[in-house]
Amino acid sequence: MPDTIKAIRGMKDILPPETGRWQRVEAIAREVFDLYGYQELRLPLLERTELFARSIGADTDIVAKEMYTFPDRHGESLTLRPEATASVVRAVLENRLERGPGVKKYYTIGPMFRYERPQKGRYRQFHQINCEALGTDAPELDAEVILMLMDLLKRLGLTRVRLLLNSLGCPECQVDFKARLSLFLAGKVGWCPDCQRRRETNPLRVLDCKSQHCQDLIKKAPVLKDCLCEACASHYARVQELLKEFQVPYEENPRLVRGLDYYTRTAFEVAASGLGAQDAVAGGGRYNGLARDLGGPDLPSIGFAIGEDRLLEVLPTEVGQGPNQKVFLAALGGAARERAFRLLQELRGQGLAAEMDFEDRSLKAQMSLADRLGAAHVVILGDRELEQGQATLRRMADGEQQQVPLDRLAAVLSGD
Ligand code: HAM
Repeated sequence: MPDTIKAIRGMKDILPPETGRWQRVEAIAREVFDLYGYQELRLPLLERTELFARSIGADTDIVAKEMYTFPDRHGESLTLRPEATASVVRAVLENRLERGPGVKKYYTIGPMFRYERPQKGRYRQFHQINCEALGTDAPELDAEVILMLMDLLKRLGLTRVRLLLNSLGCPECQVDFKARLSLFLAGKVGWCPDCQRRRETNPLRVLDCKSQHCQDLIKKAPVLKDCLCEACASHYARVQELLKEFQVPYEENPRLVRGLDYYTRTAFEVAASGLGAQDAVAGGGRYNGLARDLGGPDLPSIGFAIGEDRLLEVLPTEVGQGPNQKVFLAALGGAARERAFRLLQELRGQGLAAEMDFEDRSLKAQMSLADRLGAAHVVILGDRELEQGQATLRRMADGEQQQVPLDRLAAVLSGD
């Protein structure tokens, strides 16, 4: 016998009943996004490699080491998206969605791909719930985006979280900061080979290095907050003022730089307890220069992505386990089975989830099947009951039984 084929390392099947929890989370997310004026985009999973190289930054771990990149049959370099922001901005510019007044708000939900070392909470195919708000630099939008994220997490029942906040300033503040940082980095030895290079090419990336040794070396490095220009400092102060006004607790983390190069000003992450080392359940920030870097107009924007796999790992298990109202039709005898098959469609037509067995099993076997399917009610239909136009309705929770006329069945099951 040939070997069975297994899924690729770091990529997993999501199976029932787990899929029910995913659906519930996404349904709640969509409700919240609707309240805040976000509309859905469905975007390709494959993009030109250049899109990510130009937006996320050539020196980031994502672009340098983690992308699934390959030539297509014509030799064009394509990449499975490692994140959604670049694709959203590409789609907005390509379809001219930025035109007209007002902030443009979009969300997209789906898989992302990064060739990372798999571990708990870290996969090679993972899923993000991603929101982007494009068109203004107003700090009120930063606050609104963060409020929406925290509102959503709360509605999902995730309470043990920490919101970490920083400002990365604008390109002008970063010139000053990078000069100070380079001086500091030059004064220390023992950097990992990547950071040796990053010290020259993009010193900010050293702050995001995953090596513990480099993390120890940068403990006393200068922080961006001390280099903010007046406009960036007041923008950051206003965001904090609004978060306080709306009583959203946060912690300032002056070392938070995020793993992507496009960020300017506000940057944030949400860490959840119970996740171990990979505790960031969401991350985001402003990217005021990205649209211009991709050949578009000036389009100051902010957004975030929730890591859906990690979110599901920390959510209370009840999420998505709504009351199960499935009905199982247990038919005994040929005529009863035929009638049950029609009844099945009638009940479904009335909006009731119904199932039956097609294999002529004993009543006992059908009852245990009903149990396995999680049926709340079983309708027992024998040839004799059929003659009387009736069925026995059994409530599985307590075994209570009653005779119900067949034409009243849907109404009784619906609780009318
Ligand atoms: P990110 O921080 O790279 O940001 O990813 C956001 C979230 O995706 C992380 O906090 C984490 O929960 C989840 N995540 C990332 N990598 C993995 C992985 N390998 N396995 C499981 N979960 C993972 C972004 O992607 C930005 N595009 C967010 C953004 C939107 N910024 C502005 N707009």
